[in-house]
Amino acid sequence: MTKSYTVAVVGATGLVGRMMTTILEEQNFPVGRLIPLASARSEGMEVLFHGKPVKVQTLTGESFAGVDFALFSAGASTSKEFSPKAAAHGAVVIDNSSAFRMDPDVPLVVPEVNPEDAFKHHGIIANPNCSTIQMVVALKPLHDAFGIKRVVVSTYQSVTGAGKKGVNQLDDEIAKVPLREQKFPHPIAFNILPHIDVFLPDGYTKEEQKMMLETKKIMGADIPVTATTVRVPVFGGHSEAVNIEFERPCSPEEARSILSRAPGIIVQDDPSKNLYPMPIHAYGKNEVFVGRIRKDFSIPNGINLWIVSDNIRKGAATNAVQIAELLISRMK
Ligand SMILES: NC(=O)c1ccc[n+]([C@@H]2O[C@H](COP(=O)([O-])OP(=O)(O)OC[C@H]3O[C@@H](n4cnc5c(N)ncnc54)[C@H](OP(=O)(O)O)[C@@H]3O)[C@@H](O)[C@H]2O)c1
Repeated sequence: MTKSYTVAVVGATGLVGRMMTTILEEQNFPVGRLIPLASARSEGMEVLFHGKPVKVQTLTGESFAGVDFALFSAGASTSKEFSPKAAAHGAVVIDNSSAFRMDPDVPLVVPEVNPEDAFKHHGIIANPNCSTIQMVVALKPLHDAFGIKRVVVSTYQSVTGAGKKGVNQLDDEIAKVPLREQKFPHPIAFNILPHIDVFLPDGYTKEEQKMMLETKKIMGADIPVTATTVRVPVFGGHSEAVNIEFERPCSPEEARSILSRAPGIIVQDDPSKNLYPMPIHAYGKNEVFVGRIRKDFSIPNGINLWIVSDNIRKGAATNAVQIAELLISRMK
C-alpha cells in the first residue's frame, strides 16, 4: 500500500494556500489527511479537497501534532513564530515566506536547479521568491553550458504576487467601485509601479534584493544580478526581460536548443507567428515559458530573453509541492 502523509497548509484561505490544495490534488500527492490552517478570521470556512469540504482551523502552536509536511504561506511573521513549532513536532516545513530564505541552515530550493539541497534540511526548507524561481529555472541550464558572468533583469509582476488584497484593488479600480482595501500606494489599474515590497536604504526594493541574493544561494554560484522589479496591472503571471552575459560564446540557437531540453521549461519563440510567452497564456500552467531569445549585440557573449510563469503556481505552490514530492521519493 502507498504510504500517505498528513499535510498542513498554513494560510489555506489565501491565494497561495488555496493553490497549494489544488496542486496537491492535481499532482495526486499521497495526502492521508489535510489540515487547512488560517487566522481566527477564517474560523468556520471550508476548503474543498478532492470534492470534499474540509474545515479550516485556527492556527495555534498545537496545530502540528502528527503532521508530516507543513506548507506555510501566511507571511513572514507567522512563519517565524510557527515554523519552528511545526518542525519541533516532527513536521518538515516548506515555507513560502521570506522568513528563512537567507538563513545558512535552511536550504532554498528549486527542484529543477538544486534538488540535492532539499535533503540537507533540519526541519525547514524555504521556497524562493516567485520572480527568482522562474528566472533560475532558465538560468541554470545556460550557466551549466556557458558560465554566467552577469544578469540584468527587469520584471513585470502580476498583482496576484501581492495576495488577495492586490487582486481586490485591481478588480475594484477596473470596476470603478470604492476600494475594499488599498494594497498598493498608488492606483494600479492602467498604471505601472516601479516598487515591489519596501524600499531599502541603498535605493533598491526588498523584492530586487531578494532576486539578487536568492539567485546566488540557489545556483550555488556568485553570479552578479541587478534587478528592477515592477508591478503591472496583470492577473495571470510574472514576466521578466533578462539580459545575460556569459563567460563563453552562446548563440541564440544554442540557448534555444538547451532551454527546449531543460526540465520545467517550454520554449515559445517564433516571431514569424507572433509566438512568445505571455501571462495570459502562462496562467494556470506549472511550467516556465521562455521566448524572444536573441543576441545582445552590445557585448561579446550576451543574449536577451523573456521569461513568463504563473507566480502562484511555479512561483509558489507548485514549487513547494515539488519539494515535498522530492522528499517522499526517497522516503519509500
Ligand atoms: N502571491 C505570490 O505570488 C507569492 C509567491 C511566493 C510567496 N508568497 C508568500 O506567500 C505568503 C502568502 O501569500 P498570499 O499571496 O497567499 O497572501 P494572501 O492571499 O493575503 O493570504 C494570506 C494567508 O495567510 C493567512 N494568515 C495571515 N495572517 C495569519 C496569521 N496571523 N495566522 C494564520 N494565518 C494567517 C491568511 O488567513 P486569513 O484568510 O484567515 O486572513 C491567508 O490564508 C506570503 O508570505 C507571500 O510573501 C506569495
